[in-house]
Amino acid sequence: MSTSRPPTPSTPASKIQRTPTVTPGGSSRAQEEKILVTVRVRPLSKRELAMKDQKVAWECADSQTILYKGPQQDRAAPTSYTFDKVFGPACQTDLVYEDGAKDVAMSALTGINATIFAYGQTSSGKTFTMRGVTESAVRDIYKHIENNPEREFIIKISAMEIYNENVKDLLRPDSGPLRLLDDPEKGTIVEKLDEEIAKDSQHLRHLIGICEEQRQVGETALNDASSRSHQIIRLTVESRLREASGCVKSFVANLNFVDLAGSERAAQTHAIGARLKEGGHINRSLLTLTTVIRKLSSEKRSGHIPYRDSKLTRILQLSLGGNARTAIICTMSPALTHAEQSRNTLFFATCAKEVTNTAKVNMVVSDKQLVKHLQTEVARLEAELRTPDRASSSDILARKIKQDGNGDGRATEATR
Ligand SMILES: Nc1ncnc2c1ncn2[C@@H]1O[C@H](COP(=O)(O)OP(=O)(O)OP(=O)(O)O)[C@@H](O)[C@H]1O
Ligand SMILES: [Mg+2]
Repeated sequence: MSTSRPPTPSTPASKIQRTPTVTPGGSSRAQEEKILVTVRVRPLSKRELAMKDQKVAWECADSQTILYKGPQQDRAAPTSYTFDKVFGPACQTDLVYEDGAKDVAMSALTGINATIFAYGQTSSGKTFTMRGVTESAVRDIYKHIENNPEREFIIKISAMEIYNENVKDLLRPDSGPLRLLDDPEKGTIVEKLDEEIAKDSQHLRHLIGICEEQRQVGETALNDASSRSHQIIRLTVESRLREASGCVKSFVANLNFVDLAGSERAAQTHAIGARLKEGGHINRSLLTLTTVIRKLSSEKRSGHIPYRDSKLTRILQLSLGGNARTAIICTMSPALTHAEQSRNTLFFATCAKEVTNTAKVNMVVSDKQLVKHLQTEVARLEAELRTPDRASSSDILARKIKQDGNGDGRATEATR
């Protein structure tokens, strides 16, 4: 990932309003907001501690700043980096979730697409972090459902991995490579990707466990259980007010948990054969991701953004500069031996915090609900017309039009 470095990183640009709003008519205005970017430094690993002359090269100076403390080889390289949050080696995953992912993840409960992903070199702690973050998010989703009995929620799960640039269904391991299709409304979709309804939190955890078991993992010199594929667990959260309200609109949003494979150097991982081939694919798709992020972060943001150069960026397109809220947790080792890779990670993170997304509340109207609602309305109007003293028919019609707020309340999808 060799890209020219930016000048000394500045304090993050003040974030634009973080929560998109719904207009009273029911439609949503897209809100601009920067990607939330945090950095987590893990403790030194046993391997790193065992190395002769190993040094810690990075220090978290405060909750937003990370400093390079190692010997200065490249004078142009920055020594101080600032992000939305920085988590030191003693920090627990719970706090990383609370400060670096929860707010974005919970947006999915109100119809806003959300994506949480971990980025960093191999063995830096992406899988460790994403496991905890996903677990906490599942707990909070079901807590929210319990606390909002007036709404009916449906949680669906689908999951895929991108292994050697092939997309596989983690819920149907025997299925072959899946094709990507372009949908004018939804963007890139994965053809024939299985989707299951989660009956409850236990069932959802069970399905997530199946995905993890299916995922490609291999041993390298840097990580006994190195992820050899990019994994995307996608929850679709749909909710509507229960029957009695007569409301026909549902919120619907995707919540993606993305655990990327890590960038790696064959010289460090000692990869040969299959591992080397995997490493090549991983590095190529991460290079495309870096290019996409770098181009989106440039002030002009004009010109071609090469989303189509990798399956990963095609699938994540909405989350990178589109209709979603996105949080990126960048993970790194504090070891001096990995200083250059960690710098690359921080360069990626510095670009990512300048990327602006435009999330909005997504709503759907189901045919079934709409027909039911209209039948009730017709019956009510007929009853009112039979008793003209209660209201004139034109009044009723005017009230009805106002209620439906047709112009504003258009759904993003007409049917389901
Ligand atoms: N914050 C942390 N605290 C304690 N141990 C950690 C932490 N982060 C990672 N580890 C440990 O470090 C090792 C590597 O972590 P992990 O597998 O999550 O890395 P990774 O970034 O997913 O690597 P890869 O790209 O190869 O999949 C694991 O044994 C994990 O338990
Ligand atoms: Mg991993």
